[in-house]
Amino acid sequence: MDEATTAFGLTTTEIDGALRLASLAPSVHNSQPWRFAVLPDRIELHADPERRLPATDPEDRELRLACGAALFNLRIALEESGIRPLTTLVPNGSGSSPLAVVRYGGRSRPSAQRTRLLRAARGRRTNRRPFIDVAVPSGHRAELVRATEAERAWLHVLSTGQERAALRELVNRAHRAQLADPAFLAEFTAWTGHAGGRQDGVPPGSAGPRPEPQDEWVLRDFAAGQGRERVVGKDFESQPLLAVLCSFHEGDLAQVQAGQALQRLLLTATTLGLAASFLSQPIEVPSVLAELRHALGITLTPQAVLRLGFGSAVPATPRRPVADLLLPQPAP
Ligand SMILES: Cc1cc2nc3c(=O)[nH]c(=O)nc-3n(C[C@H](O)[C@H](O)[C@H](O)COP(=O)(O)O)c2cc1C
Repeated sequence: MDEATTAFGLTTTEIDGALRLASLAPSVHNSQPWRFAVLPDRIELHADPERRLPATDPEDRELRLACGAALFNLRIALEESGIRPLTTLVPNGSGSSPLAVVRYGGRSRPSAQRTRLLRAARGRRTNRRPFIDVAVPSGHRAELVRATEAERAWLHVLSTGQERAALRELVNRAHRAQLADPAFLAEFTAWTGHAGGRQDGVPPGSAGPRPEPQDEWVLRDFAAGQGRERVVGKDFESQPLLAVLCSFHEGDLAQVQAGQALQRLLLTATTLGLAASFLSQPIEVPSVLAELRHALGITLTPQAVLRLGFGSAVPATPRRPVADLLLPQPAP
């Protein structure tokens, strides 16, 4: 990036650091479906159409969630550099139109909470391993709910054994439907389980233990065929905190908004020492989604299903270099 491409009077190093932090957001199969245009008065967030996952995410809903999560990271990184970000979500953002535009909204004051979230953004990882069998305290739960609401979304926390059993059944059913779909499997294989050298996708080291039929929570096998050691006697925690993040509305803007809420929730969880993994199957399979809403009494729009608890350390997944995320500046 040369000096001419910086925004808001920040140095290239500061902008580079902010985009790097944005790119640490989660995305389905670690597809990293975002790009940025850096202009003197704004930073635009764009979807990357070449990183779509048509079999897993045909409507680009999860792509927009991931971009929203990257946007949240960008916001806190800019605040840390002393800029208050003014964020506008753009309807029908696709093609050459951005999903969101961040403009200068004045100077930002330091805040301890933002610094904690920023540190969490560097340490957050999806953790597919079993968690320790300790329930998430109710105070932590309340903080997660507040974090979601702060970004104008809603967290439905499962509270009964009946709800858990219903979710377990639906995750299993949706998982089986996806395994029976050759296009889904081809896409999954293309993006996951590749050791070494790649800057995207889910490497085998980030997989949990190999899923087995008796597992309480079906998890995708991100290390199939890698000869990974089977974990003997593995036990998933008996009572993870299970929650469905919902948006108040449907559509593109609501998905980018929900992505910001997702990231604030995940970073808040990280600051509390909690690990998280996703159970996206029942939202990705449309017929199961309708049942999920019915079973849990959700009238809003489910966007992500999460499992949270106290976990052990897991390795980071790779990211592409910032230079690969930059869109050329439009001609003046
Ligand atoms: C919307 C969304 C849905 C996801 N769904 C799943 C899922 O169903 N199963 C899973 O193991 N990981 C899921 N992930 C996690 C990604 O695989 C993970 O974010 C990516 O590999 C990058 O790794 P990191 O989160 O550790 O940085 C999802 C992520 C996002 C943003």
